[in-house]
Amino acid sequence: DAPENLVPRPPVVTIMGHVDHGKTSLLDALRSANVVSGEAGGITQHIGAYQVTSPLGGKITFIDTPGHAAFTAMRARGAKVTDIVVLVVAADDGVMPQTIEAINHARAAKVPLIVAINKIDKPDAKPERVRSELLQYEVQVESMGGDTLEVEVSAKAHTNLDKLLELITLQSELLDLKADPERDAEGTVIEAKLDRGRGPVATVLVQRGTLRVGDIVVAGAEMGRVRALISDKGTQLASAEPSMPVEVLGFNGTPEAGDRLAVVENEARAREITDYRKNQ
Ligand code: GTP
Ligand code: NA
Ligand code: MG
Repeated sequence: DAPENLVPRPPVVTIMGHVDHGKTSLLDALRSANVVSGEAGGITQHIGAYQVTSPLGGKITFIDTPGHAAFTAMRARGAKVTDIVVLVVAADDGVMPQTIEAINHARAAKVPLIVAINKIDKPDAKPERVRSELLQYEVQVESMGGDTLEVEVSAKAHTNLDKLLELITLQSELLDLKADPERDAEGTVIEAKLDRGRGPVATVLVQRGTLRVGDIVVAGAEMGRVRALISDKGTQLASAEPSMPVEVLGFNGTPEAGDRLAVVENEARAREITDYRKNQ
């Protein structure tokens, strides 16, 4: 293998927290679109992934997580996609079971946490109570003398959203995140579905290398030739760089969330790999 040519890449951030604490609303506010209102019952049905630009410059990749299915499957299979966890805690509700689960997940994965105390617009918001509850789980935020970054936000009133993006950029600078964009792409399938019109569609986070239209790819027991790459903004791309989430069209079958994607040299090799995996 040629030596690696490591260059800075955007951080990949997962928003975690208890049900209805405002994860999707926060992401929605950060990219100024409206996703929540289009969801059935306001419950996240899929993992969305998108990039925003930080006020300090540079991009940030966000992954929204439902409290179940795909993300749990990814975790169980050891897929490591996140550099930073933003822990959303509703200021009126406080620390709840899935808050604790998220803390434990971040700790086990050795991923730094940033605490976003959400819904501070609410009259019954008690951010001080949230801070002391977090202490019980050994999360000590800066204003309590610790070194965990924190910010009070309102997804609804769009309060302190730039501050949150700045904290993410500061935290990511400490992590010194790099990848080689020149090698063949590797990544992880974040979600995948069979689309009636487009065939199998996989949302992939590219983690190393550059993924290109025309590449022969394998993911789990599926293979294909990349027919199109579609960005989070719905635009067609010729290629996708490290930390970019992208929809990949051209798979022969539908891969699974958590599958590793790799580019291989030719179709014969792809078939060899996937035939072997199908017989496992
Ligand atoms: P799940 O994906 O189901 O776990 O929920 P979630 O964490 O993504 O929460 P979601 O964004 O769906 O928000 C839940 C509810 O809280 C919705 O009714 C939102 O409108 C409301 N909400 C979210 N953020 C805020 C906020 O900052 N202030 C207020 N007042 N309400 C909020
Ligand atoms: Na919800
Ligand atoms: Mg949600």
